[in-house]
Amino acid sequence: MSESYAFPKGFLWGAATSAYQIEGSPLADGAGASNWHRFSHTPGMTTNGDTGDIACDHYRRSELDVGVMHELGLNAYRFSISWSRVMPGGTGQVNERGLDFYSRLVDSLLARGIAPNATLYHWDLPAALDDRGGWLNRDIAEWFADYATVVFDRLGDRVPMWGTINEPWVIMDGGYMYGKLAPGHRSIYEAAIVSHNVLRAHGRAVQAFRASQHSAKSQVGIVVNLEPKYPASQAPQDLAATRRAEAYMNRQYLDPVFHGRYPAEMREIFGEAWPEWPQADFDLIRQPIDFLGINYYTRNVVRHEEASYPLKAVAVRQKQSIHTETGWELFPQGLTDTLLWIRQQYGDIPQYVTENGAAFYDPPAAPSGRVEDPLRRDYYRSHLRAVRAAIAQGADVRGYFAWSLMDNMEWSLGYSKRFGLVHVNFETLERTPKDSAKFYADVIASNGATLEQDD
Ligand code: BGC
Repeated sequence: MSESYAFPKGFLWGAATSAYQIEGSPLADGAGASNWHRFSHTPGMTTNGDTGDIACDHYRRSELDVGVMHELGLNAYRFSISWSRVMPGGTGQVNERGLDFYSRLVDSLLARGIAPNATLYHWDLPAALDDRGGWLNRDIAEWFADYATVVFDRLGDRVPMWGTINEPWVIMDGGYMYGKLAPGHRSIYEAAIVSHNVLRAHGRAVQAFRASQHSAKSQVGIVVNLEPKYPASQAPQDLAATRRAEAYMNRQYLDPVFHGRYPAEMREIFGEAWPEWPQADFDLIRQPIDFLGINYYTRNVVRHEEASYPLKAVAVRQKQSIHTETGWELFPQGLTDTLLWIRQQYGDIPQYVTENGAAFYDPPAAPSGRVEDPLRRDYYRSHLRAVRAAIAQGADVRGYFAWSLMDNMEWSLGYSKRFGLVHVNFETLERTPKDSAKFYADVIASNGATLEQDD
């Protein structure tokens, strides 16, 4: 086989999950409720009223799941820690039993040669903090740093890779601008404040990490979701709309982290809702980080639309393309473009694809145990090729995490969308690796060489 699909030595081949989406038992062993527990228990907020009460029951089956990862040959696993398991009230008292769960998980990963990649915050805020304003309260940067310190002290000796926040944009846009996700608010004024406080919390967590006794051996970064934006035409209005869309989603968080300022477009988009921020905040936000995590799913082709609030921009559906069950266009070239764009905009920061994957309809497992998911397998093949192409063109990509290890609670869409490499039967909780999992296992075993084959 040719060398052209060989990935760099030491490349991380992983899969990702998040706490609320897989763990279940949200109130077990002294845990406090999270905003997602509340949100999913509020009638009308999730498809079929689905909640994370059981989810994949990973809280009680983590040993089994680490075994599945081992069978796939993963050498890394990205998971998130539930703040309200560790600190039931969000601040103050620490719940050792919550920490014990993650400590056991880390040990069992290490025993199988799987490098833990832990995210401190993947959207499940302690409900007690929501009651104090949540991301709207400036104090949250300190609350987050205190929580981070507890976690670093306890797990930092064994976790080589830390993500502070997963997808600041979704926290703001889903949670506070349009209200599709917890806590379900809809206010542009709040959204602006949330963006800024999420970034301040990130900065304080990076400081806490540097101050922790274990930081010399490990790395810290932030995880952003990026969608490249391409203009629907060369008309000046469409080009301007594309620039706004790109600033809103892709530069809103990266410009402050790397350059210490917001894109000029923020004021254009948010209008009077965008405040002047103190300069000291930018000094905090712009802490050097060790890596950037990129979650990539799709792209947008953008055109100007006066009536679309607040961006005055809409995505044009690409009729010729394949779309996933969540309506996202399949566009692997966008991943190559994104990884190269980062280098061009922000320099030589090591990059990890921390999420990439697709929801497709899967048939139930056949009696033989086989779950055929050719569309997902093709999705992985084309996107892994896209990663390899970016590396060949100079992007410093050091790892890839498939989203997701297993079917799980897709937030407001509940269990109606399946993103897993591993099928979960939500009646019996049985796990069955899909064809895409077998495909990925072969890719991993060959360090990418089998990507060259078409079938
Ligand atoms: C999130 C995941 C989510 C996935 C698919 C990402 O934005 O980090 O939690 O399940 O997208 O929607």
